[in-house]
Amino acid sequence: MIDRLTLHNYKAFQHAEIPLGPLTLLTGLNSSGKSSVLQSLALLRQSHEAGDLEAVPLMSAAQAEGMRGVINQGFLLNGELVSLGTGEDVLHEDFTEDEPRIGLAVDEGPYHYGWTAAYEGEQNLLPLLDVELPRDAEGAATPTGPEAVTPAFLTAPFQYLHADRISPAEFYPRDHHAAVGRGFLGVRGEHTVNFLRHHREDIVPPGPLRHPKAASDRLIDQAAAWMGDLCPGVDIQADAIEGADAVRLSYGFQGTLGATRRRRPSNVGFGLTYVLPIVVACLSARPGTLILLENPEAHLHPHGQTQMATLTASAAAQGAQVIMESHSDHVINGVRLAVKRGLLAPAQAVFHYFRGDGTGVEIVSPHVDGDGMLDQWPTGFFDELENTLDQLIG
Ligand SMILES: Nc1ncnc2c1ncn2[C@@H]1O[C@H](COP(=O)(O)OP(=O)(O)O)[C@@H](O)[C@H]1O
Ligand SMILES: [Mg+2]
Repeated sequence: MIDRLTLHNYKAFQHAEIPLGPLTLLTGLNSSGKSSVLQSLALLRQSHEAGDLEAVPLMSAAQAEGMRGVINQGFLLNGELVSLGTGEDVLHEDFTEDEPRIGLAVDEGPYHYGWTAAYEGEQNLLPLLDVELPRDAEGAATPTGPEAVTPAFLTAPFQYLHADRISPAEFYPRDHHAAVGRGFLGVRGEHTVNFLRHHREDIVPPGPLRHPKAASDRLIDQAAAWMGDLCPGVDIQADAIEGADAVRLSYGFQGTLGATRRRRPSNVGFGLTYVLPIVVACLSARPGTLILLENPEAHLHPHGQTQMATLTASAAAQGAQVIMESHSDHVINGVRLAVKRGLLAPAQAVFHYFRGDGTGVEIVSPHVDGDGMLDQWPTGFFDELENTLDQLIG
């Protein structure tokens, strides 16, 4: 698990150290830097997948010094996961130090990994200047096996779902490599339906993710049960279309006159299709999976948003790491409730409130206790309801 993310001269952040937990909630005003946090992890992942962030052999500090400028690797700014533009877009406007450098670092348990890239205004690949040797909490280099060289999050199963996801459609692409080979749902969830078709028989492991009211432990029934919580009474089906590189999604509604009649996604509303990738990402997660979510509440009614929090908390409780950006009171309250119910320990739910003032980002991090109560409510942090009620009543 990533315990801490450090951003240096990166986008809205001059320097920020952001603690992360099994379930991390990023909240705050628009344009306060929330998505940029998710993008930094996606950037590292994308660079690694392209072979631009290979594990660097363990070296002494003197050897590492000698390697400066020789390591032909870097941050790949534009790719499948994120398109950040050029160095000029990524370097923090008001960068510190004489020489512009962009630094990203993660801590995983006792290990610290850091990458520093040079600023190249027009470049798509920002060349690495320095790779910090993995070191333990005491600062000692730790040459102990491959896990000390490549951080786990770069190779673990991974999902990243943007705010802008698939909309109801007749057909979805049937990309065998993405959905079956890599198990990746796509940043817009575009491979979800095909993934579901291939993995329908997978068993959801016992634990809070396993829905007690589902017809079986199979992924397809589990997904249907969770979808039913988000939109009561629905069931889902994913079929291949013979002779075409596409799969079809259909919905059924139980308890209605036409219970056996299938409905096309475009006829059952936007919310369902929008939310399916998140349900599948959470249910297919395994210990160590990293899930990045932008606005999982989008297009859901209030109770569905609370249920969404339960689902993501369940994935975290079963060993996935979920980092999500949300504007929803219902999501934040749903996470508090998950803590109160004991689904997550208080320390496993991490809240950050981002406040951008144009020059940088201030991060306030309320803590939750075992009763689901938060120790502080900074101005602007989910206080809109109260403020509006005050005006209505006053
Ligand atoms: N290179 C940069 N230097 C300084 N600020 C930046 C830079 N790139 C983006 N920003 C700022 O980051 C913010 C956008 O961050 P983003 O993560 O998209 O916000 P959110 O997801 O919270 O809406 C904007 O305020 C923008 O001005
Ligand atoms: Mg955002």
